[in-house]
Amino acid sequence: MPNNTPEPQAVCDPISRSAIFLTLTVGRDEGQRDVVRSWCGEIAALVRAVGTRAPTANLSCVCGFGSKAWELLFGAPRPASLHPFIEFGTGARRAVATPGDILLHIRADHMDLCFELASQLLNKLGNVVTVVDEVHGFRYFDLRDMIGFVDGTENPSGKSMVGFTIIGEEDADFAGGSYVVVQKYFHNLDAWNGLTAEQQGNIIGREKLSDVELDAAVKPSCSHSSLTTIDEDGQEVKILRHNMAFGRPGAKEFGTYFIGYARRPAPIEQMMENMFVGRPPGNYDRLLDYSRAVTGGLFFVPSADLLDALADREPATASTSSLPSSAPSPKASRSGTLDIGSLKGTQQHE
Ligand code: HEM
Repeated sequence: MPNNTPEPQAVCDPISRSAIFLTLTVGRDEGQRDVVRSWCGEIAALVRAVGTRAPTANLSCVCGFGSKAWELLFGAPRPASLHPFIEFGTGARRAVATPGDILLHIRADHMDLCFELASQLLNKLGNVVTVVDEVHGFRYFDLRDMIGFVDGTENPSGKSMVGFTIIGEEDADFAGGSYVVVQKYFHNLDAWNGLTAEQQGNIIGREKLSDVELDAAVKPSCSHSSLTTIDEDGQEVKILRHNMAFGRPGAKEFGTYFIGYARRPAPIEQMMENMFVGRPPGNYDRLLDYSRAVTGGLFFVPSADLLDALADREPATASTSSLPSSAPSPKASRSGTLDIGSLKGTQQHE
């Protein structure tokens, strides 16, 4: 990352033991939007106020905005690749889009810190927002997820993590920013646990206990690992994931909250297409026979500097009347290798 790139939010912070994911929608009148804009300038101070009380607990917060929310709150200019979440698949195997204007990804090694920060952030917003989804996530032993596998092994690290996640000169007004996709999945854990560890390993593409990747000669092409490994011009493109387990055993609710960061949405969308539709079509991810996505959202994460500055964004530059269509512009959707033809007819939500 060049030295003059604005400071990113805590996108690249290490994986934590606890997290709270909040998806909010914002009221549509101008007074409510004013409250949200000035709140943008208060987030960093709140993270400091809560986090300094437990310096070793690694508290952080990432805040992102959906396509329509950006238009309403901040107007032009807008991030080049921000568009509504694109749905993939059909029937029971479908990546659904659900409402969401703001995403908060709050992380720490202790849930009490996440809880305190979430409460403080929401208190400041009062009734100008509605919480449409709230998930309290945790990691099992060995950083495993709800299906019992170590999750995050193939995340990029060091400089390459920054290179894969943080926007640079390609969208200079938004350098230091990032894109994030979230999906909340429920698992049929009884059915999943009915499989042998070897069958589960073939579905993921890794040996369950040791977390070692299966040999290429035996790894199925429909394994999760195969379908989410993508190339552009012969180079592998990675994303950064901070998935968390969540659930309520008493209600037989067992889930994984998927969260993936990238410099452009296209690689994450390509992975979802491979998983839900298949590569080639029909050769889909068998993890989806045991897991159902119930939410889906795409958000732009401004740099920390821009987030702070958004507090002073003149409402006059933001849209005040009816919105222009926030369907993906051809430019946004054609970025990367994503085949726009395959998206024709897929439903998009705002
Ligand atoms: C039910 C939801 C999901 C679960 C339980 C899950 C779990 C896992 C596990 C256990 C691994 C192997 C270890 C690792 O490298 O982290 C993995 C790898 C990976 N997953 Fe997922 N995942 C889920 C959804 C997704 C989605 C929706 C995407 C992207 C759109 C995705 C992208 C990836 C990628 C890129 C890898 C690394 C592949 C490699 O390089 O081998 N995952 N996931």
